[in-house]
Amino acid sequence: MDKINIEGGQRLKGTVQISGAKNAVLPILAAVLLTDEKCVIKNVPPLRDCITMLKILKELGVKSHWCEAERQITIEPRRYTNHVAPYRLVSMMRASFCVLGPLIGKLKRAQVSLPGGCIIGPRPVDLHIKGIKALGVDVKIDHGYIFADGKNLRGGQVYLGGAFGSSVLATANVMTAAVMAKGKTIIENAACEPEIIDLAEFLIKMGAKIKGHRTHTMEIEGVKKLGGAVHAVIPDRIEAGTYMIAAAVTNGDVTIKNVIPEHMGAVIDKLQQAGIKIIRSADSIRVKGRVHLKPVDVTTLPYPGFPTDMQAQMMSLMSITEGISVITEKIYPDRFMHISELNRMGAEIMLEGASAIVKGVKSLSGAPVMASDLRASAALVLAGLVAKGKTEISRVYHLDRGYERVEEKLSALGARIWREKEK
Ligand code: EPZ
Repeated sequence: MDKINIEGGQRLKGTVQISGAKNAVLPILAAVLLTDEKCVIKNVPPLRDCITMLKILKELGVKSHWCEAERQITIEPRRYTNHVAPYRLVSMMRASFCVLGPLIGKLKRAQVSLPGGCIIGPRPVDLHIKGIKALGVDVKIDHGYIFADGKNLRGGQVYLGGAFGSSVLATANVMTAAVMAKGKTIIENAACEPEIIDLAEFLIKMGAKIKGHRTHTMEIEGVKKLGGAVHAVIPDRIEAGTYMIAAAVTNGDVTIKNVIPEHMGAVIDKLQQAGIKIIRSADSIRVKGRVHLKPVDVTTLPYPGFPTDMQAQMMSLMSITEGISVITEKIYPDRFMHISELNRMGAEIMLEGASAIVKGVKSLSGAPVMASDLRASAALVLAGLVAKGKTEISRVYHLDRGYERVEEKLSALGARIWREKEK
């Protein structure tokens, strides 16, 4: 296993290029299962989660060719017939569950392992099930699997909101089943995260009839057949936000390229409130840090609110911002595993229900810490960049699921960061 070492204290300067969005590419790769024709997906980041998704496609009988140099995956699904996504693979990555909708749409049946527990809290799939049932699909849960019989698949109307708002991947599963259902489907309280819009754009290129995908009410008119498509996925707004905070936390001056600034509204707003200077252009954002930052309160919400996937990173920034800030998690109320590790580095953060009370300290001190999940790992990297002395982050396989060559990108900006094999 690898670990990442950081010698903190360097101001980051320069330019960083953002990769394609992990959370856009995964449902798009799954959606390829809807056609027999060739699809080419571009701007694919070389991440562990993408490899896992290709393994699942292979298990289902679908071959792919990944040209990493061109960041491009070519897939020719042909006539695959396997409809079983096994526990062995689904347990490696929750997003695997988004093969459910495409399998129902194309093969009219699916057997997909239920994803089970997750370090960021309970992650039920009731909305996915409610959604596909509304399309006439017969669903049974047995031996840890969902068995979906879609021989009566047809359009329907479904409200996809839960206690914590709309669901991103439930929306993806219902959309991908509905595009090949007979008749019209209306999804109310559909997620409208940029990654869902990107999935809709890909499906439309394949021949799907989708309207309203930029709003919370989506209308889908089912079609008999979908064709191949060529599609470049959107840039990763969470990777971009993480580098924005890397610039802010080190009082640096970094230009983040290949971003869609409109996707970053809530993060830009909070950083500006904290006193960070942000200069936007059409596809880049320049972030200039400040010595004296102001504390800001943050509440995570579905898009266009502040993303839960940026909560941990924002907490690292607030932990060295003098004053008190309150960070409230409204999507995953238990997503706070990073607090105890940040406190080991000298932060003063207290958990009160689903809110973290952050009392900013003058400085953090480097320490050996452990990554618990993807975004918590990113928060530890950010803390390490500004901490005095050396930080050693173990279990970085979490980081490798969602950040491409993080140590290379940060080194190029002037950070002292390197990877080594854990003994
Ligand atoms: C997606 O997960 C992302 N994953 C997550 O990214 C992200 O944190 C999350 O959306 C929220 O933005 C991918 O896109 C692959 P949800 P998803 O269903 O779709 C509740 C990362 O670090 N809910 O939108 O699984 C749920 O518990 C990650 O990249 C139900 O109650 O999340 C949560 O409170 C991790 N019932 C809320 O809805 C359901 O059936 C939103 O979750 C489904 C969800």
